[in-house]
Amino acid sequence: MAVSALHSLLFAFLATCVVAAPKHRRSCTGTISSLSDVSDAITCTTVNIESFTVPAGMTFNLELATGTTVNMQGDVFFGNQTWDGPLFEISGTDITFNGNGYTFNGNGPFYWDGLGGNGGVTKPAPMLNCGIAIDDEQVVQNVKVLNSPCRVYSVSNTGPLTMTDLTIDDSLGDEPNANSNGLPAGHNTDGFDVSTTGELLIIENSTIMNQDDCLAINKGSNITFQGNICSGGHGISIGSITSDVTVSNIYVADNTITNSQQAIRIKTDASATNSFVSNVTYVGNTASGIADFGVIIDQSYPDTLGTPGTGVIISDVNFVDSETSITLDSSAEKVAVNCGSGSCTGMPSPPHA
Ligand SMILES: *[C@@H]1O[C@H](CO)[C@@H](O)[C@H](O)[C@H]1NC(C)=O
Ligand SMILES: *[C@@H]1O[C@H](CO)[C@@H](O)[C@H](O)[C@H]1NC(C)=O
Ligand SMILES: *[C@@H]1O[C@H](CO)[C@@H](O)[C@H](O)[C@H]1NC(C)=O
Ligand SMILES: *[C@@H]1O[C@H](CO)[C@@H](O)[C@H](O)[C@H]1NC(C)=O
Repeated sequence: MAVSALHSLLFAFLATCVVAAPKHRRSCTGTISSLSDVSDAITCTTVNIESFTVPAGMTFNLELATGTTVNMQGDVFFGNQTWDGPLFEISGTDITFNGNGYTFNGNGPFYWDGLGGNGGVTKPAPMLNCGIAIDDEQVVQNVKVLNSPCRVYSVSNTGPLTMTDLTIDDSLGDEPNANSNGLPAGHNTDGFDVSTTGELLIIENSTIMNQDDCLAINKGSNITFQGNICSGGHGISIGSITSDVTVSNIYVADNTITNSQQAIRIKTDASATNSFVSNVTYVGNTASGIADFGVIIDQSYPDTLGTPGTGVIISDVNFVDSETSITLDSSAEKVAVNCGSGSCTGMPSPPHA
């Protein structure tokens, strides 16, 4: 009895060790042209992805060995199915992901009904889960996402991550379709939802055409968003900010925002407590075709310019004034600031409009 108990304990221990052991790292090239190739390919430090279709309802998950370089060599399609997703997931340490201009095609029109995550059919979201358990330097570059069902990138790096030369093209979703009752078919197609504990995140030189936030920072420090083009959506957002989170050292520079609800927004939940947004710098951003607000800082989410909460302290928000230019539609408001009593300090001077 004792021996067999010890034996099963040992076995459990060994089994745990085998599962938890660091992935064996081999200098070889693994090629993926179907999901069944993944488990072998990820033992190599070069992984090439050829064009294939990920079967409906499955996640294309790359848990990579340390130091892996991934090269796309063809477009990846995802089968149609109403489910939660994600469609693609990547994690590892010291990873370089080269999209080489190839596309992840999410088949958005199959899902789009104008309701996004708020109703209608279940849509896989996010489409790409980037950075879970990523510990060291990462680069994701030159990838195109076409027609995401709903939210696109979820970014939750734990180490430095640079994302550059990415394209998100959900512009087809600007038009209504047979299932959207006259609404734009795409909805909640956030470009980048960032909730990071990493020491650095840079998103640069990318183009985002969608129907929701271009960037939404929910949590994190040392985040640079620079040289990007945002079109058709809700502009560059911090928030919405919930309870017990810190957003700090944010640098938003040289972006172009067109045909969007607002250019720049900070929104915090009216009910949030114990959160901080500090040291945010906007410089050299250009906006045109802005429908609602040039800049809006609002502590009353989910209401717009409603009764503000006081549980999120916003401080040290800077517009490097002469270099920010915002052109508004005739009905839009230049700057709206709606802060709770004492919960915003160091308010911005309004940029040129
Ligand atoms: C998925 O849906 C899209 C859009 O509705 C359609 O064009 C495509 O043929 C569908 N793919 C499959 C494999 O059924
Ligand atoms: C942000 O960057 C500074 C300077 O490099 C560093 O000291 C700090 O630890 C970083 N913050 C986080 C949360 O990693
Ligand atoms: C972004 O583009 C600028 C200007 O072309 C370039 O200097 C910079 O290196 C690019 N960033 C990255 C991360 O490639
Ligand atoms: C404020 O953020 C900037 C990045 O925009 C960073 O360079 C600077 O060190 C931060 N200041 C403090 C006091 O952390």
